[in-house]
Amino acid sequence: MKLKVTVLPGDGIGPEVTAQAVRVLETVAGISGYSFEFTEHVVGGAAIREFGSPLPRPTLDACLASDAVLLGAVGSPEYDQLPPHQRPEAGLLLLRRALGGYANLRPAISYSAIAACSPLRTEVGRGTDILIVRELLGGLYFGEPRGFSGSDATASAFNTMRYSVEEIERVAKVAFEAARKRRSKVTSVDKANVLETSQLWRQTVTRIGANYPDVLLEHLYVDACAMHLITSPRRFDVVLTENLFGDILSDEAAVITGSLGMLGSGTIGGEVGFYEPVHGSAPDIAGQGIANPFGAIASAAMMLRHSAKLRAGSVRYRTGHRTCARSRLSHTRHRTRHWRLCCQHLGDRRTGFGSSYRDRRYAARVPCGVKLCTLYLDLCTLSP
Ligand code: IPM
Ligand code: MN
Repeated sequence: MKLKVTVLPGDGIGPEVTAQAVRVLETVAGISGYSFEFTEHVVGGAAIREFGSPLPRPTLDACLASDAVLLGAVGSPEYDQLPPHQRPEAGLLLLRRALGGYANLRPAISYSAIAACSPLRTEVGRGTDILIVRELLGGLYFGEPRGFSGSDATASAFNTMRYSVEEIERVAKVAFEAARKRRSKVTSVDKANVLETSQLWRQTVTRIGANYPDVLLEHLYVDACAMHLITSPRRFDVVLTENLFGDILSDEAAVITGSLGMLGSGTIGGEVGFYEPVHGSAPDIAGQGIANPFGAIASAAMMLRHSAKLRAGSVRYRTGHRTCARSRLSHTRHRTRHWRLCCQHLGDRRTGFGSSYRDRRYAARVPCGVKLCTLYLDLCTLSP
């Protein structure tokens, strides 16, 4: 089997994290008989610099002609002053729309090895395992009309939040199907006490939910959801929500797990699967080799499951030495020497992975102080 993958490193830490994810995929190819054909293209700020556009034609054509797209991150402070449609982020949004995937899956899992990195007390965050299903092609991100009017003191700006029944139904089905394979609960998040779009959302999700009597459906307002996520994250299984709420809540869910750098995402429903870490381009730490590549690796693992159709493809982290992990492993944005070693080892010590092939695990040895701490990523069962 062969998977054509377009790799879009993008901006900031994007190139360094996607490089590690590609190495993991190459390792998997070596052991499963699966092969990957990688082609790299520019997007975002890097594309503006080279082509004057955040999504140049060759990039778009390559993505449309591939089985899956793996993106690093987009965004660059040098373009902060540009209007929205010329910014690096516009390239990402155009690409999402062109690829057609409407259900963005963002798993937020608290791994015991790094649970202590969470700002939450360990007993609050421990055991968190949430799948956020974020609607990705509608709402304020794409609604028309949008724009600015007037100028100076009379200036105003406007955006449109719009959802059709069809857009809500299709993403709701993804959430209910996913819940069936998990703990059979869907929390649908809206702002139905204020917004018409949310009222339609709630009605539609309730109607779809009736086809899934085995799945428990609850509705929460987004403000209450934000509070419950922090106070009792274990009450959530699948969280289904619209585009902007999903963007915000997924960053919040990520920090519960210890680091925004841990979360990967996969977008399904379109012709071409789209995989990207949840974190941004983090320009302040770009190029130093200290960015956390696990979100990108987790995204690659989701690609194995959803596009390569390899069973499992999940990423689990566990460490031989809990104490080391606790103090070192998820300090994405902390310039510790240990993270740097961690990233290098993920990329360079492929010899260290040999013995774990048989266990179907990808392992990286991370020196932490005087101990050697092993991180295992259970990538896939290697069977189609
Ligand atoms: C995300 C990002 C993007 C979004 C930005 C970069 C446009 O924050 O994937 O969560 O808002 O969707
Ligand atoms: Mn975001």
